Amino acid sequence: MKTVRQVGDLVPILERARAEGKTIGFVPTMGALHEGHLSLVRAAAAQNDLAVVSVYVNPRQFGAAEDLARYPRDIERDGELAAGAGCDYLFAPRDDEIYPPGFTTTVEVGGISALLEGASRPGHFKGVATVVLKLLNIVRPTRAYFGEKDAQQLAVVRRMVKDLDVPVEIVPMPTVRDADRIALSSRNAYLSDGERAAARRIPAALQAAWDAVARGERSPMVVREIMTETLGRDEAVRVDYIAIVDPETFAFLPTLRGEVLVLVAGWVGSTRLIDNVRVRVGSG
Ligand code: PAJ
Repeated sequence: MKTVRQVGDLVPILERARAEGKTIGFVPTMGALHEGHLSLVRAAAAQNDLAVVSVYVNPRQFGAAEDLARYPRDIERDGELAAGAGCDYLFAPRDDEIYPPGFTTTVEVGGISALLEGASRPGHFKGVATVVLKLLNIVRPTRAYFGEKDAQQLAVVRRMVKDLDVPVEIVPMPTVRDADRIALSSRNAYLSDGERAAARRIPAALQAAWDAVARGERSPMVVREIMTETLGRDEAVRVDYIAIVDPETFAFLPTLRGEVLVLVAGWVGSTRLIDNVRVRVGSG
């Protein structure tokens, strides 16, 4: 695996690969790689001739009061893990490679970006869409891999790619979880043991929603109430939102039918966690 720090070095390498008819799988990340990221890298390597992973902590998707400064960074370790998962090129640009002086363009995906994560984190999806489009234009991959863990980000990227005719196939990948069902996240590193125990209520609440639907519950209000109970009222998990939406548009659903996406966001101590599950609602 080769680590490349400059756009001007990466572009000709990938240009040659494309000219030779090679397919390119791309996994954009912010580093602090874990098994969730690595499942994407393995898929990119297995399904394409070349796998490219970017590691870039994108300042423009963090709010002023968010965790940009303490976000975990370890490029050596990331390089070893990415190589082990089949990465051919690790792209680790500096800030001025991505946002050189004079940079003024932003990409805004309307509608969906204003809801849920977008409402709680104003400007977040503008930062995500801008950097993802820029990275897609640098790498020009055949396929790009995104985790369902960040379901709304996946929907925003899909909308952007469709609206702007970006020539890439977006491949969604299932959420990888720890043995205790907590979704793997770079931010889990912030949790103390006690907080980790509280965080387990998040996947438990999603399981409770799933169980309720399986028992025949069709009222989103009732399902939300069940989830609120599971999350507990003791503030160990401070709920930001519980939402039951259409997986593509993120429109709220008055009644449960078809494929629905159940999402939770909440604070455990000073750490904000998100998780979701897709539920197929039977017709019975
Ligand atoms: P980051 O949080 O590092 O995540 C990179 C990719 O890994 C995303 O597509 C995310 O959904 C996926 N991922 C994270 N945890 C996962 C898990 N437990 N299981 C499966 N996939 C998981 O998302 C970002 O970075 C950034 O917003 C980025 C797209 C790189 C733009 O800056």
